[in-house]
Amino acid sequence: MHSPAVSLEQRANIGLLTINNPPVNALSQAVRQGLLETLRKAISDKEIEAIVIQCSGKTFIAGADISEFGKPPMRPYLPDLLKELQNSSKPIVAALFGTVLGGGFETALSCHYRIALTGTKIGLPEVKLGLIPGAGGTQLLPRVCGIETALELITSGKHVTVESPQAKGVANKIIEADLLNHAISFAQQVAFHKPLVATPLLDVKMSASDKIIFDQYRAKLAKRSRGQLAPQRAIDSIENTLSLSFGQGLEKERAYFLECRESSQSGAMRHAFFAEKAAARVTHSPHVKKPKMIEKIAIIGAGTMGGGIAMSFVDSGFPVTLVETTTQNLERGLAGITQRYGKMVKGGRISQVQMNARLNLITTTCDYQDLSEIDLVVEAAFESMDVKRSIFSKLDTVCKPEAIIASNTSYLNIDEIAESTCRANQVLGMHFFSPANIMKLLEIVRCKETDEATLVSAVALAKRIGKISTVVGMCYGFVGNRMYSCYGREANLLLLEGATPSQIDKAMIAWGMAMGPLTVNDMSGIDIAYKARKENPDLPDDPLYFQAANLLVESGRLGQKTKAGFYQYDDFGIQSDDPVALALFRQEALSLEVPQREVSQESIQTRLIYALINEGSKILEEGIAQRSGDIDVIWLNGYGFPRYMGGPMFYADMLGLRSVLSTIQSLYDETGKDWWKPSELLIELAQTGKSFSDV
Ligand code: 3HC
Repeated sequence: MHSPAVSLEQRANIGLLTINNPPVNALSQAVRQGLLETLRKAISDKEIEAIVIQCSGKTFIAGADISEFGKPPMRPYLPDLLKELQNSSKPIVAALFGTVLGGGFETALSCHYRIALTGTKIGLPEVKLGLIPGAGGTQLLPRVCGIETALELITSGKHVTVESPQAKGVANKIIEADLLNHAISFAQQVAFHKPLVATPLLDVKMSASDKIIFDQYRAKLAKRSRGQLAPQRAIDSIENTLSLSFGQGLEKERAYFLECRESSQSGAMRHAFFAEKAAARVTHSPHVKKPKMIEKIAIIGAGTMGGGIAMSFVDSGFPVTLVETTTQNLERGLAGITQRYGKMVKGGRISQVQMNARLNLITTTCDYQDLSEIDLVVEAAFESMDVKRSIFSKLDTVCKPEAIIASNTSYLNIDEIAESTCRANQVLGMHFFSPANIMKLLEIVRCKETDEATLVSAVALAKRIGKISTVVGMCYGFVGNRMYSCYGREANLLLLEGATPSQIDKAMIAWGMAMGPLTVNDMSGIDIAYKARKENPDLPDDPLYFQAANLLVESGRLGQKTKAGFYQYDDFGIQSDDPVALALFRQEALSLEVPQREVSQESIQTRLIYALINEGSKILEEGIAQRSGDIDVIWLNGYGFPRYMGGPMFYADMLGLRSVLSTIQSLYDETGKDWWKPSELLIELAQTGKSFSDV
């Protein structure tokens, strides 16, 4: 039988309201309606003296129902429901567990009492969706936890546990187990406490320094959340608690919330939220397979990448065997890992005990025979086809038959690597981003022969180590680096046309990117992509293609590591445009007859962003990405694309594909370059008035 979203039952003199809306008990219209009706019934029932609100399933309410945003609002509205909770003549106890977030936390704060299981997480993550709390969070939290905590939690959106100092005041009681029975007996104890004090009646907890703290936060967030509306509005709203009554503050908060909700920034961030969830779903899977049990991991190669990958597994409790060719290499690799953990201990991010426990999970070996019990191997060796084929063929002989073998290559053809084994169906790509223990993104590369069980196992494993994964098809550079090479191509061309590196980087930062492309390239080493280009015979045969970078590498300017690349670096590592590099570009432009011109900020932004869109469209057309949202997820999490723009494909959809096509067509007409030829898919979608998200 279909169970209602909210039910009411009586336990002795207590009215028990149970919310049942899997998976996370979001406050959908049905839940709001159900809560309102059952609350009114419980209040009017003479036998009920106090009320408990609990949830079934894995968590208390995790927030408003995000999928309802962007649709016509439906009554009852959450603020109206919460007003009834706050004004209840009978005490209400919220029984908290799991993740009590957003509207769920506002619901809890609107109850008179809160009882929580240890480890319960609370938070107001609305800024992560381009919003501010819209049902009283900015007015309630300063009354319960103080101004500073409210500023910190609301502008960062982070979750904290109920036991943490920042959550002081949230829970009236924290218990280890048996939440419901404790909540009912707690409600019985407080049923006759008078006067009944609702949160809006509490004074705002303020310290002497709180008056200046608002401007400090404004300045801090102007940098940390550059270009974003919601964090600034959150500060305004919290500041209102100092001068306005609860009711007036609430009205202002609602106006800010609606302004944010209607903004393109929030639309983009909500898209990002759902795109990240969808990205982990594997399409084209004829039969849904159960993931294989993966417990023991081996990493081949203890360099920077291999070390970072090892860390991301041990950070989640997996034992890892690190494999190298010599003991010296192993020692160097382990020293690198120890140093990175040491920095985390110094920075207070982990304790010494945690560091030791993580290091203890790492075993080292130079002998492949030690890998016979391993469930999954990630190869992160030197980027050479011969090296990788020889490693895979060795692994194939020593690993147990059901083991999965993955390559972390950034560019090489994994189908060709897989041919060196007798288990091509259990070979795939797991492309981590550097630093692998920090970056959330993982591209999981489906090869020609990869079977579904292998694929879903890798996806499930990615979730267990906290990565945001997307399944992509096999092509040079996969999705991320293939698009990045188009973005970089335009930056390189613009250098020959007369733009300076700092002009290009500043333009892209002004657009919203976390870093400029040429700074990134100098940091990672210009020679890496140079070598990859040399190994790929299929790249455009055009003398201008990455010619600026080629010139630099061929004159020994490899980036920061040689203190010279696109920029020059002084002894403190400060970068500046280098007359030597600029002269190199100018000279080459003259000999290749590239006209010099004044390059505007806008034209830099257009060239780089539209290059991404056109290539993204080709990737979608070829089926290399499963959905346009996957491409966005890759760019948001791997390349510093601003979340409030939603990713390149979402951004294109927002502009409208007709206008996007017309800009790309003009670039094609002006330059005559094949790479600007509009993608067939883009033409088709623009002509039929559709979006990338419709594919
Ligand atoms: N609304 C609608 N659906 C939601 C949701 C929400 N608030 N939160 C999660 N979901 C869905 C997910 O899309 C996913 O659906 P799927 O299975 O179809 O892909 C499913 O619930 C499970 O989510 P996760 O896979 O993320 O489960 P986890 O256990 O890993 O994480 C979570 C659970 C911590 C609750 C995480 O989902 C989360 O952070 N959710 C967002 C919470 C949030 O932002 N709340 C604030 C909303 S805005 C608000 O409340 C405004 C208010 O002030 C008025």
